[in-house]
Amino acid sequence: MKFARKADHIEICINKDVNSTKIYWDDVQLLHRALPELDMGSVDLSAELFGKKLAAPIVISAITGGFEGAEKINRNLAQAAAAVGVGMGVGSQRPALENPELALSYEAVKEFKVPLVIGNVGAPQLVAQKKRPAFGIEDCRKAMKMIDADILAVHMNFLQEIVQPEGDTNAAGCLEAIGAVAKQLPVLAKETGAGMTSDMAHELRMKGVKGIDVGGMGGTSFSAVEYHRAVGRSEATLSRLGETFWNWGIPTPLSIIEADVGLPMIATGGLWTGLDAAKAISLGASAAGFSRKMLAPAMESAEAVERELRMLIAELKAAMFLTGARSVEELQAVPYVVTGHLSEWMNALYWEEPEDQ
Ligand SMILES: Cc1cc2nc3c(=O)[nH]c(=O)nc-3n(C[C@H](O)[C@H](O)[C@H](O)COP(=O)(O)O)c2cc1C
Repeated sequence: MKFARKADHIEICINKDVNSTKIYWDDVQLLHRALPELDMGSVDLSAELFGKKLAAPIVISAITGGFEGAEKINRNLAQAAAAVGVGMGVGSQRPALENPELALSYEAVKEFKVPLVIGNVGAPQLVAQKKRPAFGIEDCRKAMKMIDADILAVHMNFLQEIVQPEGDTNAAGCLEAIGAVAKQLPVLAKETGAGMTSDMAHELRMKGVKGIDVGGMGGTSFSAVEYHRAVGRSEATLSRLGETFWNWGIPTPLSIIEADVGLPMIATGGLWTGLDAAKAISLGASAAGFSRKMLAPAMESAEAVERELRMLIAELKAAMFLTGARSVEELQAVPYVVTGHLSEWMNALYWEEPEDQ
């Protein structure tokens, strides 16, 4: 079945190792303040993102849609996001654009007052591929209307496409196509686990996108996800590609620093705790994005998702208190240090040739 891969992704993400080998958040430390000089009860987590008010700077990043089991997942996520007051995105809406019967699995989001709803289409679908024409602006509008979205994520997932059977590997013209959509609709340019450089973020900003989700490396690796599918189908070349590119990309913390081009930024990619969220925000993100972390609770119940969100918020609040940050804005100015492999990345990237004496 065409969209069986959506169900495969869920099954693999629950049962197999799909994480990048290295956890880069361990290489970022916030500096403790022995006397925070504030009442923890007064720490204010409220945030504004794309003009919407959130109770905390947290977004449930795109996970799924387009198959039977996805409806329950999206409904549980939406119910909890509305109860807690955080944002949420749905997975790629391509299945529903190609087969309207599948829209139900996304529309469940509309049953709840989620403060920020993010639609989702793929950059590869905005240009013509071997076997199908490009989606146009009307498809994008339809995707947003399907869930009353406030902004449309255009995901950039070419790492996944190279490992996926019959992946959409024509990337020529994607930047222009994103620009054309961004002229008419609010667009969030979103990577899906391979991160972003400063140059890429600048090019996207010039095309008029309203925000960036860095989707950095260090969490779910879609090369790994597709590796498991390829092994299951005895696809030798694809499984080899999946294994080789398992850790491909730019670590999330570095992507945050790189992609800081003056646009609102969501930091997704390997965040697992509220402390990771605090680190992401101190590095410059506007909000922290959690994807695979929310999958198991979402398969269970809305209460399980809500419980998890409240724990993330408790951790984030504790980190803010211990660094003396009263607000999200103050957290963005909290000092941090970078150690280990991440500091090697930064030294290599930001190394400047000494000027001649
Ligand atoms: C099961 C699953 C399905 C996903 N599907 C999509 C998708 O359809 N569109 C998208 O933009 N990102 C998708 N993602 C990528 C996530 O939004 C996120 O960028 C990536 O998983 C890294 O975050 P994480 O380490 O918190 O999982 C998916 C992630 C998971 C775990």
